[in-house]
Formats: sequence, structure tokens, C-alpha cells
Amino acid sequence: MAKYTVNVNRRRYEVEAEPDVPLLWILRDYLGLKGTKFGCGIAACGACTIHLNGNPVRSCQLRISAIPKNSEITTIEGVGATVLHPVQQAWIELQVPQCGYCQSGQIMSAVALLEKTPDPTDKDIDSALAGNLCRCGTYDRIRKAIHLAAG
Ligand code: FES
Repeated sequence: MAKYTVNVNRRRYEVEAEPDVPLLWILRDYLGLKGTKFGCGIAACGACTIHLNGNPVRSCQLRISAIPKNSEITTIEGVGATVLHPVQQAWIELQVPQCGYCQSGQIMSAVALLEKTPDPTDKDIDSALAGNLCRCGTYDRIRKAIHLAAG
């Protein structure tokens, strides 16, 4: 066991964990942030996507000990915490989710995309979200919602 400091959604947490515990489990089990989902555990589905210093990252494959010091981690709970993010508003307006399980990961990837590419093409969207799988096949609505959020 070792002690780690993690900055999540602008709050600082001290956690004691084994060095190889994935961030996903720190978020869900230690911090009670259940919006980040477990899908595959091998960085193949995107359900566990969070932002590490603004970049989308698969938290199931990020060991707590591998997180660079002073990193800022953002989860779905930190997106639109006070006012809904335009991506979240578009998701609601177009009723994107079906079962909903993958959607927090989809939204995290969409938010990261729009921060770097404010007016993405369909190709940009497909490429940025290629690692976010949806068993319900909501891809078409996801694309439309990202265009709507881009305004
Ligand atoms: Fe991390 Fe699938 S649970 S990518």
C-alpha cells in the first residue's frame, strides 16, 4: 500500500492503495464517483473514459502509481457540475442514450474533441470516438449531438 494524492474534479483527495490499482477503481470504489463505467477492463470499449489533463484516457488501464504528479482528472461528474455542458444539453435534446451504459465515456470523448476541434467534421467525430463502443448503436445520434453542441 502507498499513499497517493489525486486531483479529481477540482478537489484534492488522499488515497491509500496498491500501486497497480487502476484509476477506474479509485474513482468508483474509493471516491464513490460511479459515473465512470467498467466495460472491458482492457482499454477496448471506452466506457471508463475520463480526462487526464484535458485528454481523454481509459481509466481502466491507468495505474494509480502511473499518474503524473499534480495531474488534473475530470470525470463525468465534473463536466457541467453547475450548468450543463453544451454536449450534455445536446445529448438530452436529441435523446442520444438508449441503455446509457457507455454514454458517460462517449460524452467525455466528445467534450475533449470539441475542446481541440470546435467545429468537427463527421470524419473528425468518427476518428475521435472510434474507441468508444455502443452496443445499442447510438452512433448516428452521437454524431448529430456533437454537431449540435458545436453550434
Ligand atoms: Fe476501460 Fe473498456 S472499461 S476501455
